[in-house]
Amino acid sequence: MTTTSRVPVTLVTRAAPGVEVRDLTVVYKTPLGELPALRGVSMIVEPGTITGIVGESGSGKSTLALSLLNAVQPPGRIAGGSVEIDGLGDVLTLGGEELRQARGRHLGYVFQAAQNSLNPLKTVGKQLLDLGRSHGVRDGRALVRDAMSLLERMGLDGARVLDSHQHQLSGGMRQRVGIMLALVLNAHLVILDEPTTALDMITQATILRIVREVHQERGLTTLMVTHDIGVAAEVTDRLAVMYGGRLVEHGPTREVLGAPRHPYTQGLIQAIPRLSGDITQARALPGRPPTLGTLPSAGCVFRERCPRRMDVCETDDPLAVAHGDRSVACHAVELPTPGVRVERATPAARVPSGAEEDHT
Ligand SMILES: Nc1ncnc2c1ncn2[C@@H]1O[C@H](COP(=O)(O)OP(=O)(O)OP(=O)(O)O)[C@@H](O)[C@H]1O
Ligand code: SF4
Ligand SMILES: [Mg+2]
Repeated sequence: MTTTSRVPVTLVTRAAPGVEVRDLTVVYKTPLGELPALRGVSMIVEPGTITGIVGESGSGKSTLALSLLNAVQPPGRIAGGSVEIDGLGDVLTLGGEELRQARGRHLGYVFQAAQNSLNPLKTVGKQLLDLGRSHGVRDGRALVRDAMSLLERMGLDGARVLDSHQHQLSGGMRQRVGIMLALVLNAHLVILDEPTTALDMITQATILRIVREVHQERGLTTLMVTHDIGVAAEVTDRLAVMYGGRLVEHGPTREVLGAPRHPYTQGLIQAIPRLSGDITQARALPGRPPTLGTLPSAGCVFRERCPRRMDVCETDDPLAVAHGDRSVACHAVELPTPGVRVERATPAARVPSGAEEDHT
């Protein structure tokens, strides 16, 4: 991706944008003080890809997704880092009208539990027109036409849906309405937070097919947050695995799932019967994921549950190390041969540094 300086949002490119997240830290205010829900997260999202963000509940997936829109709300705050999006610059420096215009027109977002996020008092059509007005869309008819065509593209009766209130639509229909609202202003970076949770298997498969097709047809960059590795396996090109607010492994989905390197990724995959094939081989991960209050302040966040824990894991937080286009943050994962040049796991990996050590 190319990093651009900030430009007025009306001038941005319409191509699929790339994203560079660099050293992102987000904290939430708690009775114990401000505690980090994300700590030093760095990743590159290549233009035109579908990237999955997976991890157990509380690992920071939604917080990362919201950060990409600079939409973390109190008691949370972005305490450090940057989020460079092609054509927009660092969204963490945007505010007010610029940020509002960027959301919707450039960044489409489908919230977690989007099925329940429609206004129950207004028809979908009315909410669509409100959205258009708030983004300065003058041609309401064209907006409705686009919305209907998107809804029909997703197998729905567009006119009927626009005339409906939330309670008149099924969960799967409401989820499709959420996707339509995220796309209708022509955003090219689309973030879907748990788009298939709480849907039956058939509806889930339909939504995933729609996500894939719309992604290709519209030339999008898509991020999909899910706690379901099976869903990520089906639809994503790349996978980012999160644990305790850290990005522990990242790489092409096939490689990460086919040969996971981080003990947490290995544990997640072993816990899924339908991926491992033999249901008797599935083994649940022991223990529970940490909460903000139980996250260790030093050492590896995964160590309480890790079968490969070593002395160094008690004291040193493992830094992400890049091996080609994969990165892993674990002391037990073999480092490249000394003397062989490796790239940093941070976005700075793209700048030849000649460094032999690689840390984020
Ligand atoms: N408003 C908030 N106030 C305090 N803590 C919060 C708040 N929102 C999130 N957190 C904490 O931040 C951490 C990350 O939460 P986040 O919602 O990003 O996780 P997640 O991976 O999306 O989880 P889930 O799969 O349950 O949606 C969790 O420990 C969560 O309890
Ligand atoms: S750094 Fe240590 S505790 Fe953490 S995942 Fe690797 S081996 Fe396990
Ligand atoms: Mg979430």
